[in-house]
Amino acid sequence: MSVPLSFDGKVVLVTGAGGGLGREYALAFAERGASVVVNDLGGDIKGGGKSSAAADKVVEEIKAKGGKAVANYDSVEEGEKLIQTALDAFGRIDVVINNAGILRDRSFGRTSDLDWDLIHRVHLRGSFQVTRAAWEHMKKQKFGRIIMTSSAAGIYGNFGQANYSAAKLGMLGLSNTLAIEGQKYNIHCNTIAPTAGSRLTQTVMPPDLVESLKAEYVAPLVLWLCHSDCQENGGLFEVGAGWIGKLRWERTQGVILRRAAEPMSPESVRDKWEQICDFTDATKPASIQESLQTLVDVLSRVESENRDPSPKL
Ligand code: NAI
Repeated sequence: MSVPLSFDGKVVLVTGAGGGLGREYALAFAERGASVVVNDLGGDIKGGGKSSAAADKVVEEIKAKGGKAVANYDSVEEGEKLIQTALDAFGRIDVVINNAGILRDRSFGRTSDLDWDLIHRVHLRGSFQVTRAAWEHMKKQKFGRIIMTSSAAGIYGNFGQANYSAAKLGMLGLSNTLAIEGQKYNIHCNTIAPTAGSRLTQTVMPPDLVESLKAEYVAPLVLWLCHSDCQENGGLFEVGAGWIGKLRWERTQGVILRRAAEPMSPESVRDKWEQICDFTDATKPASIQESLQTLVDVLSRVESENRDPSPKL
């Protein structure tokens, strides 16, 4: 039989853990031995109000099952306070699950400054604040696991969610860089785009789908990504309904339009448009170095055309 994944001795912070996905993560980590900080502001889905009830209830649930947990009621915008709760209660911080979230859906033209700012403050800035507060501790102990919660709405776009899409894909950009900066300290950062029935999705999904897409189908991926045995870093995963898939970028072969002796023109872009967009034999660049290397190669090919009057471009 395979060895069960244990989180004994690990301290895990789950933001927005008073309900939905976050609650499920908190319960699952605690069940496997982690000491859990259950953070939740306890407000409504649009970011209004606050209450300690949501976090307290999950802490009670964990304790009733013999687990270790403590509540924190601060907004993720005050990241230091969340990490301080972990340090005060358990003396360290090993895992941060950036999960707290709200929605303020509006068609783009009707999106107010507040709709934009509040979504960015909670999702993107909140994840930044919480993760930065944990970062030095993780560096010192040479261990850390971080999850960013993105969304299919960010990856693909979704009508009425311009503010949310932008913030959610911003979190992927943040994760991509943290994965690079954290690698040598054994700090791994991965991003998930989950789908599950919750109070956030019950406004947009039919009730039977809300019921069938259980949050418990998402938690196992989060636990594996946060285990010390897992070497995945900088990944992006779609997860829901009991299915998990990984995403990556794909790029067309592209076309070199520039000739050494001629300026580039928009007409040449137009004329080659089909080829520029043709994904036959697409490549899968995985780093900024690979991306830059393409440009260096192009420069040298155009240069060589300069030297050789009959280029094979
Ligand atoms: P949920 O509403 O059940 O859970 C979010 C929790 O975050 C709530 O308990 C809320 O009180 C808390 N929260 C909100 N603002 C906070 C703040 N400033 N500080 C601390 N806590 C705060 O929603 P759900 O569905 O469980 O969402 C969890 C995360 O997953 C969110 O980031 C959401 O955007 C994301 N997500 C969920 C999807 C789904 O299908 N459920 C789809 C894509 C992304």
